[in-house]
Amino acid sequence: MIIEPKVKSSILLTAHPEGCKQLVKEQIEYVKNNKKYTGAKKALIIGSSSGYGLATRISLAFGGSKTETIGVAYENGPKGKRTGTAGWFNTLAFNEEAKKEGIKYKNFMGDAFSNEMKEDVIKFIKEEFGKVDLVIYSLASGKRQDPIDGIMYTSALRSTTGGVTGPTVDLESDTIFTQTMENATKEEEKATVKVMGGEDWNLWIRALAEADCLTEGAKTFAYSYIGPKLTYGIYKDGTIGLAKRHLEKTADDLDAYLKEKINGEAYTSVNKALVTKASAYIPIFPLYACILFKVMKEKGIHEGCIEQTHRLFVDMIYGNEPVIDEARRFRPDNWEMREDVQAECEELWGKITPENFRELSDYDGFKYDFFQLGGFLVDGVDYSADIDLDALSEEEI
Ligand code: NAI
Repeated sequence: MIIEPKVKSSILLTAHPEGCKQLVKEQIEYVKNNKKYTGAKKALIIGSSSGYGLATRISLAFGGSKTETIGVAYENGPKGKRTGTAGWFNTLAFNEEAKKEGIKYKNFMGDAFSNEMKEDVIKFIKEEFGKVDLVIYSLASGKRQDPIDGIMYTSALRSTTGGVTGPTVDLESDTIFTQTMENATKEEEKATVKVMGGEDWNLWIRALAEADCLTEGAKTFAYSYIGPKLTYGIYKDGTIGLAKRHLEKTADDLDAYLKEKINGEAYTSVNKALVTKASAYIPIFPLYACILFKVMKEKGIHEGCIEQTHRLFVDMIYGNEPVIDEARRFRPDNWEMREDVQAECEELWGKITPENFRELSDYDGFKYDFFQLGGFLVDGVDYSADIDLDALSEEEI
């Protein structure tokens, strides 16, 4: 099959295995050619197949520590005419490179929110893998079935301050249009916190600790976002912001629990805005990202997932230059939030029109990153080649 990109409503419906493989290799090369650190011996990454979770796994495994990793993700392999998801191909590519270097790994594909997944991972840690000293929580999902009451909650990216209207980009027609984020109902607020808040992270960490799967002094981090004033309406003061504040509160509860139990620690890390499957879907947010990328690239401080994550580990988590705010949050978003960066973003935001947005923002860079999420537009990949999806579907994950 010849695989081409198909986009619908800010979602890429297809993925190219060769492109994904090439990009995973590039991320590995990046960490190999950068500062090294001694990090975790054994880590569990929940949400390991794309975006920040994948970059975390790569930094840990190839950035000097040769960390053995367990990855949990919800991805599908090729089936019939469906290509399989990028996260599936990213994971196959990670496996291949880890195998070459004799770095142990194990993948669990399925619903991280379920009790069954927690039980399976715990069984594997106890019977084969050994205790972990780091747990990273990097899930981004639209739905979560509560394992206790069985109710399926669907998150709603909505405002909590009366609704927000603003411009955003349309990747299919290369235009900008006005989008409205409606105000959330109380049920939508609750559902979004249920899906993207800290409840599931809390269940994971307590289940792991109770089952004696964490080493003395083990750490856990969940990824979060705050963003600048420009995006408060859609993010910080939106339903997703409510969920992230819940995640931060959970970090404090878990920190106290782990201190007592194993002398452990729990934190959130507030990461930079980037193009990932999850963020491209947030209303209005993509135009902010296009402007931010332009400003940060011009200042020479732009980072992608791997650069940002590797800096978090090298300098902050396992290094001597942690940036931690008054609320105990790690802040690798410190360059995005710099006053000069935000002043320029605000100025550009005020000048953007449908006619000038390609000049005043890095729309082209954003779009390029978006297609690369599915392994497209990658140098050196022959996109006219016939891909044998049947053979790929038989590869063991
Ligand atoms: P992503 O969409 O690239 O990755 C999400 C991961 O979660 C994937 O590995 C996916 O397979 C997994 N997943 C989703 N539902 C699952 C389920 N039910 N069971 C098991 N695995 C599941 O997302 P991204 O952007 O890397 O997000 C990860 C975290 O980073 C999120 O908490 C997000 O809020 C945070 N973050 C993202 C930023 C951005 O701009 N992309 C900025 C700052 C923080």
